[in-house]
Amino acid sequence: MRCKLIAGNWKMNGSVECIRGLLEEIRKGAVTIPSVELAVFPPFVYLGLVEQQLSGTAISWGTQNISEYASGPYTGEVAGQMLRDFNCQYAIVGHSERRALYGESDQIVARKFAAALELGIKPILCVGETLEEREEGVTERVIERQIRAVLDLGGIGSFSDAVIAYEPVWAIGTGKTATSEQAQEVHSFIRSKLAVHDMMFPADQVRILYGGSMKPANARELLAMPDVDGGLIGGASLEAKEFLAIAKACG
Ligand code: 13P
Repeated sequence: MRCKLIAGNWKMNGSVECIRGLLEEIRKGAVTIPSVELAVFPPFVYLGLVEQQLSGTAISWGTQNISEYASGPYTGEVAGQMLRDFNCQYAIVGHSERRALYGESDQIVARKFAAALELGIKPILCVGETLEEREEGVTERVIERQIRAVLDLGGIGSFSDAVIAYEPVWAIGTGKTATSEQAQEVHSFIRSKLAVHDMMFPADQVRILYGGSMKPANARELLAMPDVDGGLIGGASLEAKEFLAIAKACG
């Protein structure tokens, strides 16, 4: 049985004051939804605050990025060991904004994935196609390529302690959501690829999240799909009410 995960990617939003308020509300609401795992992904500078506010609760936290390197002359980067200092359980890798705006290739993403795993931090690998790719009918090929880079570097075993997030680029921040059928189709494709790679690998235990304009109004339908194990939420995770309403839609 895969426990649903509702993860809030705050992107480059927040302030000390608004994070304090947001976490207080999320903490209160979380106790009413014990069967769903909640996680938040603040900008790096707020990790200390988030750790302070969430330690001892059932809510997890992590980062939106991680360096592929352990330490050294990499100005502006943050290493996995530093995330460990703040007890991060997760790190998002390969978000489409990092791929598109900061030139992260499949291979860089695979190395970040490996860097997180090595330190016991669970990577959340984002995959997804652009609108042109969907229209060209190459969605599956793109996603297979993004997953293969991780398989080539770390092998299938690296997915035992990882999460995958299917985020169609055309649905991110656009208000357009994949239909539940479109999401299910890709999620089940992803799972089948993990299973085919190694028949012994328990692909049915890997959590696959959907991300892209998930809101309280569309969450229930998406989360009811057999291979949708939660959501990676952008905009709606900045409002405690909306974030909690999405988590409640898991039930
Ligand atoms: P939105 O929910 O704002 O579309 O963002 C999704 C996302 O990119 C989560 O990582």
